[in-house]
Amino acid sequence: MKRMLSGIKPTGRVTLGNYIGAIKPFVSYQNEYEMIIFIANLHSMTIYQKPKDLRQNTKDLIALYLAAGLDPEKVTLFLQSDVLEHAQLGWYLGCMVNMGELSRMTQYKMQVEKAAARKDASIGAGIFNYPSLMNADILMYDPDYVPVGEDQKQHVELARNIAERFNSRYSDTFKLPEPLTPKVGGRIMSLQDPTSKMSKSDPTGKGCIYILDPINVSKKKIMSAVTDSDSTIKYDKENKPGISNLLEIYSILGKKSIPEIEAMYEGKGYGEFKKDLAEIVGEELQKIQDRYQEIVSGNYIDEILEKGAENARRMARKKLAKVERKMGITIKK
Ligand code: TYM
Repeated sequence: MKRMLSGIKPTGRVTLGNYIGAIKPFVSYQNEYEMIIFIANLHSMTIYQKPKDLRQNTKDLIALYLAAGLDPEKVTLFLQSDVLEHAQLGWYLGCMVNMGELSRMTQYKMQVEKAAARKDASIGAGIFNYPSLMNADILMYDPDYVPVGEDQKQHVELARNIAERFNSRYSDTFKLPEPLTPKVGGRIMSLQDPTSKMSKSDPTGKGCIYILDPINVSKKKIMSAVTDSDSTIKYDKENKPGISNLLEIYSILGKKSIPEIEAMYEGKGYGEFKKDLAEIVGEELQKIQDRYQEIVSGNYIDEILEKGAENARRMARKKLAKVERKMGITIKK
């Protein structure tokens, strides 16, 4: 069975972009692949998190994974901070990556731009070193695929390069992972500015649907989503980014192909299309929220995480021991 691995940061509330780009694909893969899924709480520390919020967001994220349908009997689900080996391997791999490579990462460059716009030159070192820890998360478990949204593809490609570098320096140790991005829904855009990504840190919150938003709020956000000047429902990312984004959301949640949806709405206006989409989004979120309520009122999250961490630790210890032997860190043979 091929192996997949991925993670999500518990920063802010989980968005429809995270759900469509990552969580929903994880659920669909769990029967065909061996899945390792974790909460990237170490990565979330690159930006200050209020402890109370971090705790809540972490619990919400686990509950949402489960509510979306991840089955802990099939998937290894754990907190990154529970497996100390990630940080240790992150250090070794950080010693093998160049500063030039790290400074070319889009996520880092965006932080630099944001800091410049704030006229604030201070950027934490964590965001610069972020990819090394992510390389460790990935390479530790020899996954065949890393399912991520478009924005994380560059990081997975770097992990692949570092794996190659390590293998050629110390002999074959790591499998070369491949990023796996969904053909539709790999980059859900803001509902208010369809040229930028739907993001947890949306300044007004209007461009972003949060999975735990009250259903009527999400519906309103769809109804007031920015569309384009003409009124045909046609997929054209370049010239009609607003409607194309809504078509992607419709396609994934409504389980129809984009041409099928275009045909359904031929000669119909945006109003009708949006109303139907609002219903579809509302229904999907309602299902998740109902299960989420059951999960948070139950008492089994700790147990799931403990079991997941135990499993992950077993794999990670073995891999780290191999890495340390190869590098000469371990002195006994
Ligand atoms: P994070 O928490 O920013 O995002 C989690 C996942 O959601 C995807 N995503 C989106 N997909 C479609 N449309 C959007 N608007 C959208 N916004 C976010 C992301 O691409 C991602 O797949 N660095 C990672 C966490 C991480 C990780 C890893 C992932 C840490 N270690 C190892 C894979 C493997 C991150 O920031 O995800």
